[in-house]
Amino acid sequence: MNAPVASRRSSVGMVDGEFLLTTADFNTIAKMLHAETGITLHEGKATLMYSRLGKRLRALGMTDFRSYCELLENPEENEERGSMIRALTTNVTRFYREPHHFDHLRDVVLPPLLRAAERGGRVRIWSAACSSGQEPYSLGLTVLRLLPNAASLDVRILATDIDTTVLEQARAGRYSTEALSAVPGDLRNRHFEKSQGEWEAGDALRRMITFRPLNLIGAWPMRGTFDVIMCRNVVIYFAEDTQVEIWNRFAPLLSPGGYLYIGHSERVAGPAMKVFTNAGITTYQKRPSA
Ligand SMILES: C[S@@+](CC[C@H](N)C(=O)[O-])C[C@H]1O[C@@H](n2cnc3c(N)ncnc32)[C@H](O)[C@@H]1O
Repeated sequence: MNAPVASRRSSVGMVDGEFLLTTADFNTIAKMLHAETGITLHEGKATLMYSRLGKRLRALGMTDFRSYCELLENPEENEERGSMIRALTTNVTRFYREPHHFDHLRDVVLPPLLRAAERGGRVRIWSAACSSGQEPYSLGLTVLRLLPNAASLDVRILATDIDTTVLEQARAGRYSTEALSAVPGDLRNRHFEKSQGEWEAGDALRRMITFRPLNLIGAWPMRGTFDVIMCRNVVIYFAEDTQVEIWNRFAPLLSPGGYLYIGHSERVAGPAMKVFTNAGITTYQKRPSA
């Protein structure tokens, strides 16, 4: 039970020490992470846990994971549990990631929705697990390319994530030229402003997109349905039953005929498939009659 699953010499800055991560410590942290986020870490991820949380141990001046577990287990240590979650979540993202989804939106999904918006209709898009914002800004740019005045109509994008640090970056909307390299230059120049060597999201994007913290395995406070839900590259970290639960919760939140986009290595499964049809690569449409 107390066998070491990972340990190594570390030498960072002024600190030089060795942390012992036992199976029991690994299980304590993995169980807590799972309870709070739905993320499942199997023992093969011990090295990942070691390297990501080793930084926390150093910052806290701790020499072993046992002490870190005791800190996490203290009910008054919400803040450190937050830091543990932030350290163990993967936030990799980029503009127009999995571009076929944005092509599908541009060519199939958005044209009728935006025509309806021009007649006073309501359009709602949800980027669930938006990380540092590249996904919702890509959605916003896809909308604005088709309808430049969309921000002054009832077209809104909700962008949520469990990690408040990446959410702050998303809200700041500041990206390097390199990060924006997938965005066509004319669109970037129109909807981002150059400031201190970076690009900052402009007014139209900011008016359209709202950022909020939301845990996908917790309560969802939204009322009203969405025309599009994009939930990509997050449920891959969840156990299968949690994934099935998430698909089941998305189904009633989508308008009839609405679309769900998921990550390249994810698949919708379970009872939700009664209401969805395959509509392309990792793209699902809710049956108009459902
Ligand atoms: C790999 S990123 C994906 C970002 C974007 N959707 C994409 O595909 O590029 C995964 C994101 O899921 C978030 N996440 C992990 N567990 C979550 C949960 N239970 N609820 C909401 N977001 C979660 C992480 O904080 C992280 O920002």
